[in-house]
Amino acid sequence: MAIKIKDIRSQIIHYESIDSTNLEAHRYLEKNSVSNPTWLIAEQQTSGRGRMGSSWVSTKGNLFATLIYPIVWDLKILPMLSCLVALAIHETISFYINSTNKIKIKWPNDILVNNAKISGVLIENVLSGKKKYSIIGIGINVVSSPQLAGYETSYINQYLNDKTNVSKVFLNLKNNLEDKLNNYSEVNIDEIRLEMLSKSWKFNEKIEFISNSLSGSGIFEGISDNYEILIRTDTDQIKLNSGELKLIRK
Ligand code: BTN
Repeated sequence: MAIKIKDIRSQIIHYESIDSTNLEAHRYLEKNSVSNPTWLIAEQQTSGRGRMGSSWVSTKGNLFATLIYPIVWDLKILPMLSCLVALAIHETISFYINSTNKIKIKWPNDILVNNAKISGVLIENVLSGKKKYSIIGIGINVVSSPQLAGYETSYINQYLNDKTNVSKVFLNLKNNLEDKLNNYSEVNIDEIRLEMLSKSWKFNEKIEFISNSLSGSGIFEGISDNYEILIRTDTDQIKLNSGELKLIRK
């Protein structure tokens, strides 16, 4: 029988206000030896960070959390962690928002509700020291969402008569994510990928993309073991990782 690493106790550190829980996670790791998963949560961030150098508007009432997770698995499955995190957030959002709404994972790990972004993830791995960590930063819009020029946004309470709050959403997310992380292993990779594709925005459809070297369009055909996106263009299949590519929301 496979032994599961279950029920590893996590701790939570709370901040009223901080520049960024991800930045704080890096500072925290410089000063502390972390052996159990450690959540840093802030009521607000003054300098919230997003993927690819963007910022994350971080006003009170929404969720800003970073999980420092000591890496206990083979590094070759590290890229799929991004997928696992997206699934955990999808589960949390689906707990609150009725499935008559379209709740989708936009690769690599944005969550969209009816095409409007409700959640984003910034994962930064610390692999240089003796102990290796994943810094998993998660933002979920709970009570409000910013008006942005680039894309539409949404928030959980927009869909609820009986409103929820950030503490409840955090506990729900914490349970979902820890559960998935404690059972994460090489043997689940195919299952995780299939689940992601079943919930994915535009899977098997035409997407438009921009990357450092390319821009174009093609059919989103799948994801690789390294969580790269596979796109079929007119001429061939391309494979790009999340640091290289942005999907255009249309
Ligand atoms: C994105 O979609 O661009 C990623 C957004 C990630 C935001 C979260 S909020 C908590 C954590 N701290 C940060 O500064 N960023 C992440």
